[in-house]
Order: sequence, then structure tokens, then C-alpha cells
Amino acid sequence: MTPAALAELEKRHSWHPFTPMQAWTATEHEPLMIESGNGCVLRDPHGREYLDGNASIWTNIHGHNHPAINAAIIEQLGKVAHTSFLGFSHSPAALLAKELVNLLPGEKMQRVFFSDDGSTAIECAVRMALQFWRQNGRPERDTLVAFDRAYHGDTLGAASLGGIPTFKGSADAFGYRVLRVASLDALDLLPMEDQKRLAAVIMEPLIQGVANMRLWPKGMLRDLNAWCGQKDVFLILDEVMTGFGRTGKMFACQHEDVVPDFLCLAKGLTGGYLPMAATLTTQRVFEGFHAPDHTFFYGHSYTANPLGCAAALASLRLFRDEAVLERLQPRIALLASELDTLQKQPGVLATRQIGLIAGIDVEGPAGTGAAVCLAARQHGLLTRPIQNTIVLMPPLCVTAEQLQRMIAAVQRALQDLARHC
Ligand SMILES: Cc1ncc(COP(=O)(O)O)c(C=O)c1O
Repeated sequence: MTPAALAELEKRHSWHPFTPMQAWTATEHEPLMIESGNGCVLRDPHGREYLDGNASIWTNIHGHNHPAINAAIIEQLGKVAHTSFLGFSHSPAALLAKELVNLLPGEKMQRVFFSDDGSTAIECAVRMALQFWRQNGRPERDTLVAFDRAYHGDTLGAASLGGIPTFKGSADAFGYRVLRVASLDALDLLPMEDQKRLAAVIMEPLIQGVANMRLWPKGMLRDLNAWCGQKDVFLILDEVMTGFGRTGKMFACQHEDVVPDFLCLAKGLTGGYLPMAATLTTQRVFEGFHAPDHTFFYGHSYTANPLGCAAALASLRLFRDEAVLERLQPRIALLASELDTLQKQPGVLATRQIGLIAGIDVEGPAGTGAAVCLAARQHGLLTRPIQNTIVLMPPLCVTAEQLQRMIAAVQRALQDLARHC
């Protein structure tokens, strides 16, 4: 099939997430089809190459087509592709659970519940927290606290926690009570009758991704953890975006020496290869489910898929064997200096960074961010904005030269737009 025929077919039958479909299916729109990739580079059917500036929606860690992850998946494929985790187990899941708890300091984190994506990792933590209190003598603890402008996913349960109306759809307090606060001070000021009903507080540590890459003040996570500890309220950390090295450490919570009660992981868990998630929790929570009628009735057909587990194990092995986090530090510093220069360019309002995550606010009416990203595509960069914030979050294997080309592509895109205004 020719690339044009394929594009036509795709426009006729596919429905894309977070995408205005009228514009997508318009005659003049040519969808970009990705055919292959290596490292940070993606290729379309015409052979054009692009740098993967948002790690394929914040998932990819070691690059595309990595021989070690490919080999691990193929090896597992030669054994079995999928078996049920309901009533059975398998070695990749057993090994992965152990490796994941070992990534956190101390003995607090002990148990791993696998699911499918970021949204289900969050729902799982929420359900566990609510059920824990219900069956352990505190049924009045029926309320979750989430922060303004939070994003925790888009299934109904996860979207109920969200603080960005566009992404909530009709989901609000779906089956449980949610209070939203702007800050730790606001949380502390909640009336006592509300505080007594708190089951858990959920936050994206250090940075709220979908809220235009908004950084939390330094120390806020540590203080929140102390507040939760004092009140014996669970702390759920959503590291769906920040997990697996994005912030320069394996997990964002390690920047402030916090081990939460629940840690939600997804996107980068398999190196960005396969849909899989994990909710880590403590022995205390686990033991709260020990009575015969306290079973956690949750889980999906593909829970702990062996191929996903094999990819995740290979990804964690790469972190160790290739000293990924140590080798990342100079590129984080380079990104900081590149952003510093970019910030002085016309059309750039501000930049924010933590680790290998950057948000670049561009000046202009609504839609300017999307226009900049489209123009950057002509200069070989693929990424997606959040409103007028350009996101740069490449795979951790990005080279210094590729990082510089990404920034240059944004710069050229801004110049192109300025010329056409
Ligand atoms: C912080 C955070 N939590 C949860 C999610 C939801 O993850 P998923 O899209 O895999 O359901 C996202 C997705 O972007 C996210 O950034």
C-alpha cells in the first residue's frame, strides 16, 4: 500500500485520543505515520527522520528498538506471551516485583500490584486506600485530597481526581469524595471535620506535568509527607510521568527523601515498550487486606503480562549496566544551559526544567503552542504542546548533539512563525 493510501485509510477509520477529529480527517491534513525508530530517532514511510522530543508521550527511556529490550521480549515470546495472574504467577512478575521494591530505600515499600497504564495504577491506589480504612476500623475515611490542576489519568476514577476541567470530561467524584486544594497550607486549613474523613492525599511530586510543567516549591513534598505522617493519612505519589529517571533520580520522591504509602508507576516502566503499570505499597497496607473477606477485587485480563515484565526487567538492567542515571547528569546540565539561551529568544516567555523534563512557554494566542510544534516538525523535531507550553522530554539516551538540535528546532520554529505573522 502506498503511504498516501495508508494515510487515507487511517483517516477513514481511526479515532485518536485528545485529538480534534474534524481537523484530523480534513482533506488537506496528512497524518504523520511513524514506521520505524532507533534510539531517539523516528522515521516516517517517506524516510524522513525526526527526533522524538517527547519520548513518545513521555514513555520511552532507553531509545526505540533497543537490542537488549527487543531480545528480552523475544526471549519471553518464545516461552509464553500471556498467562493469567489470577490464581497463577510467573517468574518475570516475581522478579520484577522484587526489583521494583528494591529501588526504594529501606523496608517500607514491600508490595507490588500490577495493572495496565497510569490511570489504572492510580485507581488501584485510590481503591486500596479507601478499602483499607473501610475494613480497618475507620470507615469515615472516605475522602481523597488532590491538588488544583492535577492530572492523574482519564478513566472515570482517575479523572475524578483531576483539577483541569478539559481533561475531566463528566468524571467528578466518581464513586468517592474528592476535595481539591491549592497548596499544603490550604490542606492544613481544611476544617477538622473534613480532615477526619481523609483517606489519602495524592500528588504528582516535584512537577505537575499536564499543568504546563508546573514545578512545586522545593521542600513541599517533604513537608506534605510529614503532614500526612502526623495525621496518619496515606500519601499517594503519582510518578507515572516522573518515574524512571526523568527528573535525574530514579524517582522524583528521592529528591526529598520521601517514601510514600503508594507509588504509582507506568509510562517508563517497560522502557516505553509495552502498556504496563505498577502500584507499590507498604506491608501495613497489604496486611490490612489479610482477612478472608478483605480481598482486593480489582485487576484486568492482562495484569502482569509476561512480555511487559520481561521488557521492564530489561529496562531496569540497562539502568544498572549502563549507569544511565550517572551518565544523564551532564545532559541535564546541558539542557539547563540551552534553555537559558532559548529563554532570551523573542517569542519565549519562560522555561522550566527538572531533570530531562522541560516546559517552554511561548507567546501568542491560543493555538500558538500547537503551531510551534507543527513548525518544529519541519526542522526534524516531534513533540506535543500543553496549550502554549512546548514540552521537551526526550528518551534518557538522547545525545548532547540531539538535545541541541531539539532546542534549535524550537528556535527555528519560533522564527518561522514570527516571519509569517
Ligand atoms: C502524572 C500522570 N498521571 C497519570 C497519567 C495517566 O497515564 P495513562 O495515560 O498511562 O493512563 C499521566 C499521563 O500523562 C500522567 O502524566
